[in-house]
Amino acid sequence: MTVLGIETSCDETAAAVVTGDGRILANLVLSQLDEHRPYGGVVPEIAARSHLDHIDRLVEEAMAEAGLEFGALDGIAVTAGPGLIGGVFVGVMTAKAIALAWDLPFLAVNHLEGHALTARLGTDLAFPYLLLLVSGGHCQLLAVEGVGCYSRLGGTIDDAVGEAFDKTAKLLGLGYPGGPAVERAAADGDPAAFALPRPMIGRPGLDFSFSGLKTAVRHAAQAADLLDDPPGDAGNDAGRKADLAAAFQEAVGDILAERCGKALDLFRERYGKAGPLVVAGGVAANRHLRERLDGVARAAGSELMAPPPALCTDNAAMIAWAGVERLRLGLTDPLDFAARPRWPL
Ligand code: KG4
Ligand code: ZN
Repeated sequence: MTVLGIETSCDETAAAVVTGDGRILANLVLSQLDEHRPYGGVVPEIAARSHLDHIDRLVEEAMAEAGLEFGALDGIAVTAGPGLIGGVFVGVMTAKAIALAWDLPFLAVNHLEGHALTARLGTDLAFPYLLLLVSGGHCQLLAVEGVGCYSRLGGTIDDAVGEAFDKTAKLLGLGYPGGPAVERAAADGDPAAFALPRPMIGRPGLDFSFSGLKTAVRHAAQAADLLDDPPGDAGNDAGRKADLAAAFQEAVGDILAERCGKALDLFRERYGKAGPLVVAGGVAANRHLRERLDGVARAAGSELMAPPPALCTDNAAMIAWAGVERLRLGLTDPLDFAARPRWPL
């Protein structure tokens, strides 16, 4: 089984070809970072136009790299939401056109399901597993019981983790995109140099909150006079900024670790097995957080399964793989499937 995947829901134009036995024959990601950088965030209109400019060529390149003609495919999978709708339309219309022209099954994939199933790509990870999904727009704990069977255990009541990373980076002028910039800065910082809160730790339930942490970072930055440097130029404050980035990352690590520890207990009660704990989404590319979660999983007699960083941030291999999983179960979609700006798992 061979599936072409297309991803255009945010600021990456991506096309990939993946097989039923988990081989990635092609995985191309075209980042629009340079186009959005002057604005300090993703501009939906620019994103949609850029997807339109590049998607056809990228799909052709992916097929060439895989050494396949469209007729050799078993299905076309595409992110049909949630995401910036202008971009989602571009991917969905492209995928529908190919499916129609070549009479291939069409698979409308939920972007979050793509992240959720990535850990099974090329591995023998079995259901059920505990999933921490941490990206730019989402922060959720889910029990993944099967394809299309997701039981939500908890989630953020305000900001997503990636959003907190991005805002912290913007505030400190560390550059864009924020997550990797904060991780780089934090590597040289002392996390104990600033005292930041750990919202929700010790509270019942498995929800998260990051807005208080974000505000605390802003107050700490103001108090330490770190706010007036031009973007990308840390000036003489580089050391203090690194400390604050490290303190922020440490606080996030503490929060995720405590919540995942509790979630593993609940998971064991409910499913009678110790995880495994799977982490997915862009923030899962963060090495410090991966180490923290690995520690939590081990302490619970479980293990952490984290996809390679390049499969954590947005890509089309995860969409093609979700397509494979759905196609195996006969879960294809009609060509009048409507793209969805919002689409909870
Ligand atoms: O999954 P993703 O690529 O796109 C969404 O579906 O949202 O996640 C993007 C998010 C951004 O907020 C980005 O700053 C964050 O993931 N991110 C990171 C790292 N790499 C990406 N956050 C922390 N550390 C990283 N190394
Ligand atoms: Zn994503």
